Amino acid sequence: MRAAMFYGSHQPLKIENVADPTPETGQLVVKVAACGLCHTDLHYIDHDTPTFHPPPLILGHEISGTVAAVGPDVVDFKEGDPVILPAVLPCRTCAMCRSGRENICENLQMYGNHINGGYAEYVLAWADHTFHLPHSIPLQEGAIIADAITTPYHAVVHRGRVQAGQSVAVIGCGGIGLNVVQFARAAGAGRIIAVDIEPSKLEHARELGATDTINAFEVDRVDSEIRFRTRGGVEIAFECIGRSDTQLTAMGSVRAGGRVVFVGYNPRPVEVSGARVMFRELEIVGSLGCRPIDYPRVIRLVEKGIIKLKELVSHRVPLEKINDGFDLLREGKALRAIVVP
Ligand code: APR
Repeated sequence: MRAAMFYGSHQPLKIENVADPTPETGQLVVKVAACGLCHTDLHYIDHDTPTFHPPPLILGHEISGTVAAVGPDVVDFKEGDPVILPAVLPCRTCAMCRSGRENICENLQMYGNHINGGYAEYVLAWADHTFHLPHSIPLQEGAIIADAITTPYHAVVHRGRVQAGQSVAVIGCGGIGLNVVQFARAAGAGRIIAVDIEPSKLEHARELGATDTINAFEVDRVDSEIRFRTRGGVEIAFECIGRSDTQLTAMGSVRAGGRVVFVGYNPRPVEVSGARVMFRELEIVGSLGCRPIDYPRVIRLVEKGIIKLKELVSHRVPLEKINDGFDLLREGKALRAIVVP
């Protein structure tokens, strides 16, 4: 099969012929329909973040496709079934898994990080970690459910715990942030303030449910602007970029008793005012991925049209052009780009 191989940071992926995967007990081979291009991959490709499995490795963790072959003892899937593969595979036995927090499993395995991922024609998968995708959901666009849609679900429902009528700020409206906007709207948030530096992203945020927008380049301080507009701050702020300065902006945007959710991955330290956290009883919580139990719920919300999917996929590129796809991400041009092998 054709695959885009990762050989290490600061070099483009190489398109090569590699051996087709074969399924063993409990496994499936999935013919990849699409795989979302995600910023996480740029951390490996551009920023020296090491993959758990040393290169060469096939990256890609936002995968949809059809079952191409089933291994022994697989009963729930047959050839041709449309499926999505969750980005991560929990171990189901560690303390976190046993307490229902599989998304922070202590032995987490991730496609395109610990094991080969979806930037290829086929990928090896585990049947008991795979979800059926209804025929009514477009198969290629369905790929982004595996991360760009499910991660914001977890952030809004379980970590932000957004309730009807609450006020919310979403700092950064890319592939992740726009879906935080969508889920905040679905949760009934009364006010959703979207912040970005790209006017087009703010326009999309409005279409998906933002009630207010702020272009960070057009105001002195985003946090003061949010506090001014809301008379004291929002109840919950989501940082969906992964920068120390915007994490501080999120902390400055909430009112007393507010909650700040870090959704973006920021490898650098951030200097938090302990006094502010203490005196205003702020909560700062992280959010990572999504629990398996929530996948069917998210799929149903997409199926019912409560969460929009097609609108979020702005670009599709063939496998041979995958490095051009990453350039789109680097330039901040794509909402979500998918590779269609
Ligand atoms: N202020 C406001 N918005 C900003 C700023 C800033 N200073 N800098 C960048 N942005 C906006 C970009 O214009 C873009 O719309 O943040 C958005 C980031 O979105 P994407 O680049 O599409 O990244 P995304 O895939 O959404 O991931 C965001 O979440 O999962 C993590 O690793 C991922 O850290 C990354 C984050």
